[in-house]
Amino acid sequence: MNIALLPGDGIGPEIMAEAEKVIDLFVAEGEPIKTQTALVGGAAVEVYDDPLPDDTLQLCLASSAVLFGAIGGPQYDTLPRPKRPERGLLRLRKAMDLFANLRPAKVYDALADSSTLKKEVVAGLDMMIVRELTGDIYFGEPRGIHTNEQGLRVGVNTMTYDENEIKRVAHWGFQAAQKRRGMLCSVDKMNVLECTQLWRDVVMEVAREYPDVTLTHMLVDNAAMQLIRRPQQFDVIVTGNLFGDILSDEASMLTGSIGLLPSASLNQSGQGLFEPIHGSAPDIAGQGIANPLAQILSLAMLFRYSLKREDLADRVEFAVEEVINQGMRTKDIAKAGERILSTSAMGDAVVAALKNNN
Ligand code: IPM
Ligand code: MG
Repeated sequence: MNIALLPGDGIGPEIMAEAEKVIDLFVAEGEPIKTQTALVGGAAVEVYDDPLPDDTLQLCLASSAVLFGAIGGPQYDTLPRPKRPERGLLRLRKAMDLFANLRPAKVYDALADSSTLKKEVVAGLDMMIVRELTGDIYFGEPRGIHTNEQGLRVGVNTMTYDENEIKRVAHWGFQAAQKRRGMLCSVDKMNVLECTQLWRDVVMEVAREYPDVTLTHMLVDNAAMQLIRRPQQFDVIVTGNLFGDILSDEASMLTGSIGLLPSASLNQSGQGLFEPIHGSAPDIAGQGIANPLAQILSLAMLFRYSLKREDLADRVEFAVEEVINQGMRTKDIAKAGERILSTSAMGDAVVAALKNNN
């Protein structure tokens, strides 16, 4: 089990240190886990002038899985585009062919009143967004900003999918639904965009192989609305890169804190990159107050999906649920008057819970 650790920028290194405590515990228990750390994002630009240095890329390609922190920060926003931290992450996703992005959103009972939505709307919510991650308008050509014959600046991006790209992520959607409540909602904008008409057609073709899954379709604007109106109706959503980017941020807020949500990005061979869905939070970096649970839950997904160690994944998820139930809170999930734990104290609490339940 070779894990590449890419802490990145902002709060990335702080929360990664807490996930490493969990890894250290498993190593102490005798698990054959090896880790290696590398630079990515702004941290890599500062040293190598490249947000994804070749050494980092090679390490990732050679690892069983990548645990990724977060990247980006205002000091990098004025760099030329190829040097920006985000480009490093996009290149890594493409180079590893991580086309299936799983973003679960789960409301913990003890936190149901932390959501900005009413408790009865979100209580018990447990859904997953399967987002296509290596295609769509994110990567489509032509792209760029040019000047046309009238001397006007024109911005261009291209939304494009071939049927194979749709097919392989659709399979992930159906299979995720099979392991859950058997409901898949495919989200598109087929009333306007041809690219997503093809999306719908191909998803319907793939559906013939999954008679046990109930497939529905929803236009993306309606899906954005239904997610806050009645989120409980969703089990698994499968959608393209751009719509998935937007809907997964929306879904995260149903749970009360973006600091709690992990994600997995996988390729056909099961190799994956696992990262919290929150960003690098430069405004709170270095203060020891960030919530490390999304990073720790990303490690759990890494055990489940890339290392096929369901047992370790279950233990980590159980320990996280336990510390939440015990009332342990970092600042982002604490209510007025509740005691606030530091990033490192929260990591220690998870390790203590893991030791107790061994
Ligand atoms: C995400 C992020 C990225 C994306 C950015 C950082 C490139 O928003 O993982 O959702 O748009 O995919
Ligand atoms: Mg996003």
